[in-house]
Amino acid sequence: MFSLIYSATLNGIEASIVEVETYISSGMPVFSIVGLPDATVKESRNRVIAAIKNSSFAFPTKKITINLAPADIKKEGGIFDLPIALCILAAIGKIKKENLKKFCAVGELSLDGKIREIKGSLPISLALPKNNIKNFIVPFENRQEASVAGMVNVFPFKTLSEVVQFINDETLVSPYMYNENEVVSSLLNHEYDFSDVKGQKSAIRAAEIAASGGHNLLMYGPPGAGKTMIAKRIPSILPPMTFNESIETTKVWSVIGNNFCKGLIKTRTFRSPHHTTSAIALAGGGTYPKPGEVSLAHNGVLFLDEFAEFKRDSLEILRQPLEDKRITVSRAKNSFTFPASFMLVAAMNPCPCGNLGHREKDCVCTPLQINKYKSKISGPLMDRIDIHVEVLALKLSELTELNAVSENSAEIRERVIKARQIQNERFCKSKTHANAQMQSKEIKKHCILNKDAYDILKMSMEKLKFSARSYDKILKVSRTIADLDRVEKIGPSHIAEAVKYRFSDRNL
Ligand SMILES: Nc1ncnc2c1ncn2[C@@H]1O[C@H](COP(=O)(O)OP(=O)(O)OP(=O)(O)O)[C@@H](O)[C@H]1O
Ligand SMILES: [Mg+2]
Ligand SMILES: [Zn+2]
Repeated sequence: MFSLIYSATLNGIEASIVEVETYISSGMPVFSIVGLPDATVKESRNRVIAAIKNSSFAFPTKKITINLAPADIKKEGGIFDLPIALCILAAIGKIKKENLKKFCAVGELSLDGKIREIKGSLPISLALPKNNIKNFIVPFENRQEASVAGMVNVFPFKTLSEVVQFINDETLVSPYMYNENEVVSSLLNHEYDFSDVKGQKSAIRAAEIAASGGHNLLMYGPPGAGKTMIAKRIPSILPPMTFNESIETTKVWSVIGNNFCKGLIKTRTFRSPHHTTSAIALAGGGTYPKPGEVSLAHNGVLFLDEFAEFKRDSLEILRQPLEDKRITVSRAKNSFTFPASFMLVAAMNPCPCGNLGHREKDCVCTPLQINKYKSKISGPLMDRIDIHVEVLALKLSELTELNAVSENSAEIRERVIKARQIQNERFCKSKTHANAQMQSKEIKKHCILNKDAYDILKMSMEKLKFSARSYDKILKVSRTIADLDRVEKIGPSHIAEAVKYRFSDRNL
């Protein structure tokens, strides 16, 4: 008495197909699961027995062997409960075996036979067509996520008995069609808007440039100046996500079982891990590595508030994702790569007391304390942040002015989108997407200065004693500023503004 159904297991944010085979023979009633299952899969036995009995079927008192193939991939979680139960019922003739093979099934069972939500239904649904599997049985709660890619027939169910009836052709169920209206908050409705921010024109401008060219941004200034407030509003001015970006971001959230909108994530995510967050929580990890903060911020914003307070080893792990747009998490036997293409926004005070450069308050720190504080962030990391902007404390008059009107996010976003369109055309034949990612060759090709601009750059380099590393950054940022102005050649005003965002290089 043999039967087979397909299921799947997750490797990082990808899924691979698992064949669930059942063999029932006479002998001592033992129920064993083989094929590298971990403890959570072994626990499946108790749930499967109870669920089958509570769905009004008799559980065979025979020798049952379940094999999860291929045996060399580790399997975890309750995802196999449903396929194991279906396979056993097929082996004892309660389900038509020939029908069973047409499906991939996933789902954790509760003791009364209900089917519980699982993690990773999107990566699994994407893996099925590659394996010529057309039909996907999923827990009801996973229906939207499993159907977003629209590449398989998704059949959602709430109980084991319903699945049995369906496979036996006793009920007619049509595949679930992805319906955006059933999805929670996946649309662009940002709760934070730039119109709430008073004053701080130069910081908002820096945020616009950063968003336009995909540059990372560092804001420094005294407490209460509005740094956190501005950072939270950055996702609202980023361009809309492409379908592929949405799929990638949704996969990451899917495998951690926390897809907040249940369907396709269309809003850029904003992650702001606390400065006590460990390196593992940032990078991702665990026995079965799960994506960390840098990946949850994929295609969105990673905001590191109180940047200088982060532990050095936590900050250092950012170097790989900032360079490669992905992060590799290594374990004893294997390693996983998660996507991690985010815009880094960092905020910090200029000194330990926070008042250095304050209009009204005095800084009480010694030069040594200030230097120590700044040196907490390593040069290579600072190097990866193109734009540094000072956010000064608001004057009382600016804060209390009633008629001040600030631009809203939609207006800023429109300009950002236009600047991105120019970059899309510029980089249509290369791997680069935005100005921030340009390599030396591309900088040479695309950052053409007119004579006046060149003179200003030369003078700034000499007078302000910028390091060589600042040079490329100034060029990249000035390219973005010129794109916002929609001009081909970089002019003196573009260079002058870009130079302003490197002022901190002089003493950092
Ligand atoms: N420019 C501003 N316009 C309107 N409100 C502001 C502005 N700046 C600060 N505020 C008010 O002050 C509060 C604190 O600002 P925020 O947390 O952004 O400061 P911060 O610069 O991040 O300070 P810290 O260095 O202490 O983190 C905000 O929640 C807001 O209510
Ligand atoms: Mg803050
Ligand atoms: Zn100070």
